[in-house]
Amino acid sequence: MIVPMAPKVGPATERELRPHYGYFFICSFHSILRACAAMSSLVASFIAIAIFAGRVANAQPAVSLLIDNGYPSSGTLNIASVLTQVSAKKGQTFHFGSTYDTYDADQSWFDSIFQTFFKHVVSENGCKWDATEPTQGTSDLTECLATQSFATTYGNSFRGHNTFWHSQTPSWLPGSFSASTLVNTIIPQHVQAEIQGMGSSVTSWDVVNEVVGDGVSNGMTALQCVQNKGDWPTVTSDGSGTPLVTDLSFIYQAFKTAYTYAGANTRLAINDYNTGGQDAKTACVIAVLESIQANTSIPYDRLAIGFQSHLTASTGGFYTKSALASTFSTLAALGVNAMITEMDIEVNTDNTANLRYQAAIWGDYLDACLYASNCNEFINWDPRDDLSWRGTSAAATLFDSNGNPKPAAYEVAARLQNYAAGNAEPCATSSGTSVCTITGTGSTTTGSSSSTSSTKSSSSGSGGPTGCASAEWGQCGGMGWTGCTSCASGTTCQEQNAYYSQCLPS
Ligand code: G3I
Repeated sequence: MIVPMAPKVGPATERELRPHYGYFFICSFHSILRACAAMSSLVASFIAIAIFAGRVANAQPAVSLLIDNGYPSSGTLNIASVLTQVSAKKGQTFHFGSTYDTYDADQSWFDSIFQTFFKHVVSENGCKWDATEPTQGTSDLTECLATQSFATTYGNSFRGHNTFWHSQTPSWLPGSFSASTLVNTIIPQHVQAEIQGMGSSVTSWDVVNEVVGDGVSNGMTALQCVQNKGDWPTVTSDGSGTPLVTDLSFIYQAFKTAYTYAGANTRLAINDYNTGGQDAKTACVIAVLESIQANTSIPYDRLAIGFQSHLTASTGGFYTKSALASTFSTLAALGVNAMITEMDIEVNTDNTANLRYQAAIWGDYLDACLYASNCNEFINWDPRDDLSWRGTSAAATLFDSNGNPKPAAYEVAARLQNYAAGNAEPCATSSGTSVCTITGTGSTTTGSSSSTSSTKSSSSGSGGPTGCASAEWGQCGGMGWTGCTSCASGTTCQEQNAYYSQCLPS
């Protein structure tokens, strides 16, 4: 079960203001009562104004997007050739995709969209334990292979999700198996059958899914992080909390087996949700990964962390681009890949402002991956709103319920084109126009290489003075910056962090 991140920061919400409803004036005499009544209603109206202000402040920020600056914001999208150019720019294949199950509705739409927009397939459900080993010891990869075959038919790559998860297990699991049987027989047998059966072309596998708890705290050991989850197999599945597997051997065994049978280029990932920043759960996932490496000797350059990224388009409902970039950089230092594995972004109301905010967040996550050396898989979970596990009304995907592209789809296409063109990384658009304003010129043609010269300026407040340009190496933006936000000829304003952007040679 995904618990969308609680707002970490943000303006006081109505709930937080609500206790102030309770202020009443205790009065003793009639005249005082009348005065008090007047005062009470004055205070009540003041509180109402404060709540309204709070609600307005809670509204999404105005955002600046690439699609406001020359990139297509309507019409047919075909980014297949752009994805090829992105891979060339990256120096390795950039796997940009979505989920598919063979029983999904509107097969013709899927046939088309995985030729024109997505080029990487993940089986939403067909490769999970309930589908792939319905009875103990009997491997049935029919659905998983059919999904992979769909990918191959349309020239898409394929990633495996997943070989171990406490959810969507077959009916014979968890059963009453001992820890030893689970660790030494059942888990390695399943992992081997699935990974061997799916072949060596799989780009990456979620070897274990969602093993870290949601109540973890900084400083926990890898074992404490996993025990905090309180799910099978560390405890029995009867809800009694009875210990079962009392160490991380089940994880080590899954990874050792995966490493033995996976292709030489297949990355082996630990995948989880509500991770990506400098928080306790992300630290735990990294600790578990380090523990896996230490106890299996699998080289770091075969390991990966999948950041599911089931987000909400509201303050605190997502990680900032700088937080993501910092985490990706930490992993890069280890030689570990970062992957965005299940992106979707729920919006509170399906209106233009919220859909633009969604587009800004999506663009920032994609840019964080594009401009990182160790992020080469970006998967969007469920390709269209009517098929989203979050419900149609969440409007959480790139395409609407009729299969038409939303602002986020156009913005994603623009970010890919911008990267492919070798342009500077845009500033963090989800921060809002008070921090990040995209300025760009040029025109693009849909679906082929872009000729846009899109620069970025990040400035704070109402934006810097017009008509001036910062010299090479000079500051051109950042929180609190009130100077020039344009740069001298031959240089572009490049964000170094949320507080400092600098004019660097183009
Ligand atoms: O296949 C049966 C069908 O025979 C039956 O008639 C129908 C009615 O109950 O259920 C069908 O199974 C459903 C399955 O999706 C296939 O459609 C399950 O009920 C339903 O629970 C399952 O939901 C999936 C969910 O994982 C299960 O936890 C979602 O599609 C899938 O998007 C979601 O994906 C997970 C990732 O694997 C891990 N990260 C979180 C993400 C969202 O929960």
